[in-house]
Order: sequence, then C-alpha cells, then structure tokens
Amino acid sequence: MRNVYLLQGINLIRVGKREPVLYGNTSWPDARLQLQHWLELHWPGVSLVDCTTTSEQEAVEFLHRMADDPHAVGGLINPGAWTHTSLAMRDAAAGVGSPLVEVHLSHTYARESFRKSSLVASECVGTVSGFGWLGYTLGFQALLAYQPA
Ligand code: DQA
Repeated sequence: MRNVYLLQGINLIRVGKREPVLYGNTSWPDARLQLQHWLELHWPGVSLVDCTTTSEQEAVEFLHRMADDPHAVGGLINPGAWTHTSLAMRDAAAGVGSPLVEVHLSHTYARESFRKSSLVASECVGTVSGFGWLGYTLGFQALLAYQPA
C-alpha cells in the first residue's frame, strides 16, 4: 500500500472559472479524473490522497497527516497564494519527511514580482511551474523518478 498526496490550496477550486487566460478552462474535478487515470497507468498500486481547501488550517493538517502516514511516498503541493505568504505552510512542508514537488499552473516567475518568491520551495525537491495541469503529471513523474542525493 502506497499513498501519493496532492494538496490544492487557496482558490484552486475555482480553476476552470477563474482567470482562464492564466489557469485554463479545465476544472479541478476534470483534471483530477485525468490525473487519477494517469496514476493508474504509470504508477500502479499507488493511491491518490488529495485535499482541496480554502482553509489554511485544513491545508496544514493535511500535511501533518501526510507526515504521519508510513505509506506516504511523496506528494505535490500547489498552495496557491499561500506559496508567497505562509510561513505555516513552509513549516508544515518542512515536517513532511517524504519528497514534495511544488507545482503551479501558471509561470509564477514570469508574473508579478510578488509571485517570484516561494516560501515552500526550499522544502520541496523541485518546482514545476507554467504548464497548466500537465505540470501535475510532470510532478508525479518527477516523484516517481526521484532518488534522494
Ligand atoms: C498559482 C500561482 C499563485 O501565485 C496564485 O496565487 C494561485 C495559483 C498557480 O497555480 O499558478 O492561486 O499557485
């Protein structure tokens, strides 16, 4: 039994309706189905454990749950705007213990200057930014291939 985690932070539930020029037209439920399918094909035996929330407390508690899960193999986190603001997210990510990949739908480094800093990046093994939902598949691929140095 192996669990791969995925955290969708604040405002990600609105993707599909929200600023489609930046984030695309595909909703999270539709993207989730596609990711689930990808995992079944490419990472058999792994279960997706995901959380989409607008509550910072719930997001932090989700990372605590991941930290306490002996079957966790790693996870993706897109904290949304918390990426740039939340020390609590960073501290929770630091305590996870299995590899995390930071993902963003948009190319945050090519946007406003306040999006260029990430408080969680230092707690992740890498970042995928700017490829829409494809970035989540790339993040899972990166986790599958990841070997600690
Ligand atoms: C985002 C980028 C963040 O800067 C922004 O606040 C979001 C979405 C992304 O996936 O591109 O809400 O995390």
